[in-house]
Amino acid sequence: MNHDLFADEVPCWEETLCPGALVLRGQALPQVESLLAAVETVVAAAPWRHLITPGGYRMSVAMSNCGLYGWVSDETGYRYDAQDPLSGRRWPAMPEVFRQLAREAAERAGFKGFEPDACLINRYEVGARLSLHQDKDERDYGAPIVSVSLGLPAVFLFGGLRRSDPQQRVALAHGDVVVWGGPARLRYHGVLALKAGTHPLLGAQRINLTFRKAR
Ligand code: SIN
Ligand code: FE2
Repeated sequence: MNHDLFADEVPCWEETLCPGALVLRGQALPQVESLLAAVETVVAAAPWRHLITPGGYRMSVAMSNCGLYGWVSDETGYRYDAQDPLSGRRWPAMPEVFRQLAREAAERAGFKGFEPDACLINRYEVGARLSLHQDKDERDYGAPIVSVSLGLPAVFLFGGLRRSDPQQRVALAHGDVVVWGGPARLRYHGVLALKAGTHPLLGAQRINLTFRKAR
């Protein structure tokens, strides 16, 4: 199949959140089956775990990683690590379908040549949430963040450059992709507690893929 021709037929529309940030509605839908199969493969090698924050709290979101670097947290702080601390081995390679989607989404948002070296995989079960934060553990902020939503819908909070800035509430559905970079790269963001529900493919969970250029 000619992927580019196929992509033109995707019912996808764009919503701008602010300069440098937009939602690509349904952008991941054509690849959902391969994306979910790839998630299975990754978590078979690097299983879901609830990381501990530097403050000693267990995160409600379960995480895994693939790519050259994985984002991890423990009592000593947040960092990117080339090894999975659970196994002592390298993280699973980034599946081609992940890389391709991240690249295409970034390009649609105006960030050409995005080459992620890290993909954090977040699993939200009902009640799991992610408090307001900036993605700032990456070495340079020139590359955008690309975030893919699968499964149950969630409310994404998209704030400003200061923690106290007002936040937009963005409903994210299965297949939506959010990209933020450039002037929006360091905007605060988070996810409200996941509401109960059953998604036809994923059941009572939401999976989020967050692509970054860590190094
Ligand atoms: C994140 O900020 O790492 C995840 C955002 C999301 O789950 O939508
Ligand atoms: Fe984030």
